[in-house]
Amino acid sequence: MIESGSRTDRRERRGVTPGPGAGTALWPDPPMRGILLAGGTGSRLWPVTKAISKQLVPVFDKPMIFYPLSTLISIGIREILVITTPGDRDAFVRLLGDGSQWGLRLEYAVQPRPEGIAQAFLIGEEFLGGRSSALILGDNLFHGVDLGRWSRPGAGVVGGHIFAWPVPNPSAYAVVEFDDAGRVLSIEEKPSRPRSRYAVPGLYFYDSTVVEVARGLRPSARGELEITAVNDHYLRQRRLGVTVLDRGSVWLDTGTVADMARANEYVRVVEERQGCKIGCVEEAAWRAGLISDAELRELARPLFSSGYGEYLLGLLG
Ligand code: TTP
Repeated sequence: MIESGSRTDRRERRGVTPGPGAGTALWPDPPMRGILLAGGTGSRLWPVTKAISKQLVPVFDKPMIFYPLSTLISIGIREILVITTPGDRDAFVRLLGDGSQWGLRLEYAVQPRPEGIAQAFLIGEEFLGGRSSALILGDNLFHGVDLGRWSRPGAGVVGGHIFAWPVPNPSAYAVVEFDDAGRVLSIEEKPSRPRSRYAVPGLYFYDSTVVEVARGLRPSARGELEITAVNDHYLRQRRLGVTVLDRGSVWLDTGTVADMARANEYVRVVEERQGCKIGCVEEAAWRAGLISDAELRELARPLFSSGYGEYLLGLLG
């Protein structure tokens, strides 16, 4: 049966916070676009990622890229540029297509060499077309985090907005230092002596000035255009917001074999115990009102032998 009612009705019925377009404008119109950065070398996972992109490797029951893609969908982003290595592009296109099956518009670009996360804005300049953007790293997994308000039009934030999350090994990440009043004092990339436990997860929101900021960067000592340099630029201009993710939110990255094992185990345990999938693109699109019940049923059809299709049908009750 084809579901009746407007997409907004469906969204409300599923208890999903409305995306951009509803409410007042935090980021200027038109709606924000997304960049999903899925290049890199993946050398910390070799030999696993010698012949396959890290972001195509499974995390439990789905390819890694499904997790950040679902995050972008759930925060209201519909137009996304997927940046891959030249050799992996076709595999991503085979997996994700043009996104229309999920109510999205996906475009692809390649990064010839892994010359830094901030290079995404130079590669994506034309795609962004002067809009604000959300950049998410293809190997980051968020769960239970309400990120929607950062992409939604709202309270006049300009510049950049990033997040912070306490980790046991901050030296492996960019680290944010706060003063006693919670103001940000510094952001340092992979410091040998971290000034706090707060790492910066791989999800960043910027206004349209980010392309200019990226253009002004010089490669760091390790030869990369550093996203931390972009954030530091906005910090020095007092145009950087930093939100510590709520307790109860989960952020996992999958850079090392141990990280991968943890992420696999986390997803397995949560999915088996709760009976709800994490990072299920089809479900995220359906909950966001981008596809109808009938379209979800159609997507489920070829996915029965893995049990994934059964799960999708189960959502329809
Ligand atoms: P990293 O984990 O820092 O780098 P990597 O994926 O190349 O892995 P390794 O250090 O094991 O060699 O990258 C974080 C994410 O950003 C990951 O999803 C890959 C992506 N990335 C790019 O797409 N291009 C780049 O130039 C860089 C530096 C990272």
